[in-house]
Amino acid sequence: MNTLTSSLEFSHFPVMLSEIIQIASPEKGGLFIDCTFGGGSYSNALLKFPKTKVIGIDRDEAVISRANELEKKYQKRFKFYQIKFSELDKILNKNADTIIFDLGLSSIQLKNLNRGFSFKSKNKLDMAMGLNNISAQEAINNLSEKHLKLIIKILGEETEASNIAKNIIKARSEKKITKVNELVKIIEKSKKKNFSSKINPSTKTFQALRIYVNKEISELINGITKAAKILKPGGKLVIISFHSIEDKIVKYFFSNFSKNRSNPSRYLPEDNNTACFLFEKYNKKVIKPTSHEIKINNPSRSAKMRFAIRSKNRFLFPQNLFKKFGNYLDIEGVDA
Ligand SMILES: C[S@@+](CC[C@H](N)C(=O)[O-])C[C@H]1O[C@@H](n2cnc3c(N)ncnc32)[C@H](O)[C@@H]1O
Repeated sequence: MNTLTSSLEFSHFPVMLSEIIQIASPEKGGLFIDCTFGGGSYSNALLKFPKTKVIGIDRDEAVISRANELEKKYQKRFKFYQIKFSELDKILNKNADTIIFDLGLSSIQLKNLNRGFSFKSKNKLDMAMGLNNISAQEAINNLSEKHLKLIIKILGEETEASNIAKNIIKARSEKKITKVNELVKIIEKSKKKNFSSKINPSTKTFQALRIYVNKEISELINGITKAAKILKPGGKLVIISFHSIEDKIVKYFFSNFSKNRSNPSRYLPEDNNTACFLFEKYNKKVIKPTSHEIKINNPSRSAKMRFAIRSKNRFLFPQNLFKKFGNYLDIEGVDA
């Protein structure tokens, strides 16, 4: 992996930065955890307020040089850890004022064709964000047809998953699939021509593989659970999601573990209905980028921000969150 990333390549355009700052209210000071450091825009903006302390987290080693710059500039107020956010509790066990997740890929990762995230790439099928056990190449060449189909269908929400999985198996029986463009060709051949569709035919399969390779659903569920454990009473959990599975999980977590949940008895353990809400207040209204932001940064168009405020209740493990999305966790858990 290329770790010599120049500062030019750190041109990730931050999504809803002013909304993040407004919710986090850094002018009051406090401890802020930026769980998805990326190009460092949120951390940098929070550090401009003199009473803040910021911890940055990212699984990608390519961001370390940017993090080092901030560590040097704000020696007493900024610390970076290259870990997965599901391991949040390894670096902190309480007292965070605001925890932020800006999910998915950064444009730094997408634009680097060596990483294999973009279907424009002709390079190795990798798709690993960092600290991974497998690559997309291993998944594509080792998984059974049944599991490939499940991954593409459920994690990619791709209706033509059967055909795609079948053609992957056929192609790899002739020659190992190692390059992004080889996979793109197989997907294009497998899909019925749909000229009215605006999305690239490979989008959903690529989303599925990326989620599987990086175990993104398990990361999200474990990450937000640990964040709820570490937040102070009154602390804020802010999450920006980019695809429907992520948003479904975040919405469920906030809606069903909040004091103002709509139907308590349906979702929460009956014996402990009032004592186990983790969030005091959840504003159900989703925050989206303004039309101006979408115009200047098109990838922000699918972003949805939700946030909730931690209650005073002691932390209770949100078992139902894991149960509810168990099917995704099972699919991600299959070894390649
Ligand atoms: C959308 S970018 C964040 C961009 C950042 N907010 C900015 O404005 O520069 C997401 C970042 O989160 C990182 N990431 C994704 N999943 C992660 C996980 N489970 N643990 C740690 N970092 C993760 C990615 O490597 C990527 O750098």
